[in-house]
Amino acid sequence: MSNTGATAIAIHITDHQGAVTSIDGKIGKTLMEVATAKNINGIAADCGGLMSCATCHVFVQEPFASQLGAPDAEELAMLAFTAVPRQPHSRLSCQITLSAELNGLAVTLPASQY
Ligand code: FES
Repeated sequence: MSNTGATAIAIHITDHQGAVTSIDGKIGKTLMEVATAKNINGIAADCGGLMSCATCHVFVQEPFASQLGAPDAEELAMLAFTAVPRQPHSRLSCQITLSAELNGLAVTLPASQY
């Protein structure tokens, strides 16, 4: 199904126990912004998106991880400070800007952000 012209995308968030919550996210916002606005437990985002806390850590599922490409050097440096050790598809959700291409975005949350 084409998502051309849509202003929001579907996002599927799996908590560390396997429960999935599906939300809509406005294109142009970050994953952290939409998840915290919908009170998703498990994304703390203490710094509000300034990339200085690493408490918005998520594991991005494929094919979306590949679509996003590699984190930049600044994000990569911050990923060293996640409470749960980073994995190959770890990202900071404040650095994931929602786009039409990411419709159906699926991420898993770490067991803790602290
Ligand atoms: S919200 Fe702090 S690093 Fe993402």
